[in-house]
Amino acid sequence: MSQQMQIERGAAAKTIANAGLFFRRWLANPLQMGSIVPSSATLCRHVATHAACAPDETVVELGAGTGVISRALLDSGLAPHRLVLVEIVPEMAEHLRRALPGVRVIAGDARALPALLAGSGVKVGAVICGVPLVLLPLAEQRRFTDAFRAVGPRCGFLHYSYCITSPLPARRLGLEARRLAWTPLNFPPASVWHYRHTGG
Ligand SMILES: C[S@@+](CC[C@H](N)C(=O)[O-])C[C@H]1O[C@@H](n2cnc3c(N)ncnc32)[C@H](O)[C@@H]1O
Repeated sequence: MSQQMQIERGAAAKTIANAGLFFRRWLANPLQMGSIVPSSATLCRHVATHAACAPDETVVELGAGTGVISRALLDSGLAPHRLVLVEIVPEMAEHLRRALPGVRVIAGDARALPALLAGSGVKVGAVICGVPLVLLPLAEQRRFTDAFRAVGPRCGFLHYSYCITSPLPARRLGLEARRLAWTPLNFPPASVWHYRHTGG
């Protein structure tokens, strides 16, 4: 890659990451954000690699934040019209709309995913959950995982986390868990997990 291209990529990465907005939202609601800074480029690439799906399917990303994983998905070759983002903070949803033209951005709660996608005709091929689920009580975690299953019953969902072990109590939620990747090059070090419902 030429030096000019590297400079342009670096500038684009800073615009999308918008660390200032991310940090302000963390100050306002640390549990909802779950992290002080956006995911690293390495973690984003790991997630994008494992979100591949069929050409007629859509990737749904929940808790898109400032869009660093969304950007990595597009950089991996996903067409913008095959990406749907859900973000609960309206200011972040606005940022995503501005930064990622052609991508459908929904300002809403991931727990209401079936209603948010109702009538959209979207065929879900991959679900990525960036919402920090680890600190939620079991019943709340179940609300999220039930919503994911309702829209993507066969694909399961990806979830990244800073936990050493599974961030979700898989068996209690009727899930099968598999760690797909780990990166020490994230602050803090992070893993990418895949969960699938065992009950069919
Ligand atoms: C750990 S940050 C991840 C941000 C981004 N995906 C990244 O990797 O840098 C979690 C994001 O989930 C969003 N979020 C939290 N609860 C949510 C919910 N119920 N529905 C949708 N988004 C939510 C937060 O606003 C925040 O942007």
